Amino acid sequence: MIQLHDKQFVPFISAKEIEFAIAKMVAQIEDDFTDETPVFVGVLNGSFMVVSDFMKGYKKPCEVSFIKLASYEGTSSTDEVKQLIGLNQDLSGRSVVIIEDIVDTGNTLVVLKELFKKQNVKHLRIATLFFKPEAYKKDIKIDYIGVRIPNKFIVGFGLDYDGLGRNLPEVYQLKE
Ligand code: IMP
Ligand code: MG
Repeated sequence: MIQLHDKQFVPFISAKEIEFAIAKMVAQIEDDFTDETPVFVGVLNGSFMVVSDFMKGYKKPCEVSFIKLASYEGTSSTDEVKQLIGLNQDLSGRSVVIIEDIVDTGNTLVVLKELFKKQNVKHLRIATLFFKPEAYKKDIKIDYIGVRIPNKFIVGFGLDYDGLGRNLPEVYQLKE
């Protein structure tokens, strides 16, 4: 068991399971992009570890870029996600795979989709290491899913609780 700030977390997904889940996504994407050099776009902060392992596993030509978004706890329910670092690369005509650490409600995905609409990309696919089907409220298709998890709060492998826990090589869930 580990303690982060005021909360306790228990082991949930091992480093091995994460490794397998990423390898599975890599294999699917390598199959889907045969003649193209995809651009992987990681969504900071949470996705830095997934993107790193993902890139190391991907054996064909590829590029990487990052954007940084932050959720708000504001009063408005729609525009809650703010863009902190934008895309600084021309992606027109390119095949883009967004790499997320986790998809929860899907609010972030809506913002990402909107952002890429203006980019004239050839293909836009979405990959996420973790997915909470019970919490997902949008109808945007998620093309590659690593692990489906229950609607519980998790930390580790890039995911944080109030800034802490991102360095953990495996995933923990909030102790009930
Ligand atoms: P969304 O609700 O799909 O827009 O997810 C918003 C963001 O909330 C994600 O990109 C994560 O940064 C964060 N998040 C969602 N679920 C968890 C969790 O279980 N642990 C830590 N962060 C989470
Ligand atoms: Mg995220």
